[in-house]
Amino acid sequence: MNPAPTIPGALGYGPQAQALAAQYESIAFDDLHREVLHLFPPPPCAVLDIGAGSGRDAAALARIGHRVTAVEPTAALRQEAQRIHADMPIAWVDDHLPDLALLHTSAPCFDLVLLTAVWMHLDGAERARAMQTVATLLSPGGLVVISLRHGPVPAERRMFDVSAQETVALGAQHGLTVVHNGRRDDAQARADVHWSVVAMARPKIRINTA
Ligand SMILES: C[S@@+](CC[C@H](N)C(=O)[O-])C[C@H]1O[C@@H](n2cnc3c(N)ncnc32)[C@H](O)[C@@H]1O
Repeated sequence: MNPAPTIPGALGYGPQAQALAAQYESIAFDDLHREVLHLFPPPPCAVLDIGAGSGRDAAALARIGHRVTAVEPTAALRQEAQRIHADMPIAWVDDHLPDLALLHTSAPCFDLVLLTAVWMHLDGAERARAMQTVATLLSPGGLVVISLRHGPVPAERRMFDVSAQETVALGAQHGLTVVHNGRRDDAQARADVHWSVVAMARPKIRINTA
């Protein structure tokens, strides 16, 4: 049987999966997310980590008691992540944006959705569709955190320079409100790379009892 074709956004990840996983695992979850950690819902909640890579964030969140689903389309990375975090009760799914077609069939609902270093792999049309997907999967009051890389594009990757402004505007089209919009340096101390971090919430539905 032929292997599944690589989706455009995941180009370049498979052949370097082991080295990349080691690199991702060397970053501390608490440090990477320090500006927005206080916004994360307390456990136990339903968490979705899209483009989970080595599973660093999925494992950290499972460890404190969240129910975590991790989506990762790059088979070699997903397998490496499952090996590294074999002791963690993470539900791994082979799926991808913009549609998350497999995940959508069971109509799940998540209190926290992480898109860490993933969104800029999608082109404009994919980002528009993906925001609808993400907004649909969020529970009322749920939070989505998106980090966007700015800087040179690594060889053999497909990446776009996506602004926080566009991301916020796209979220607003789907009823999401901004709760954090900031910039930070690179966690791997690359001088030519920096990041935008956008956190948006789906408003809680108000029940009018009058
Ligand atoms: C830079 S890595 C980030 C991994 C992890 N989130 C982290 O912060 O360490 C980008 C990840 O996005 C995944 N990816 C790329 N395109 C994707 C898509 N269309 N849907 C879901 N994941 C995608 C890649 O396979 C890769 O694992």
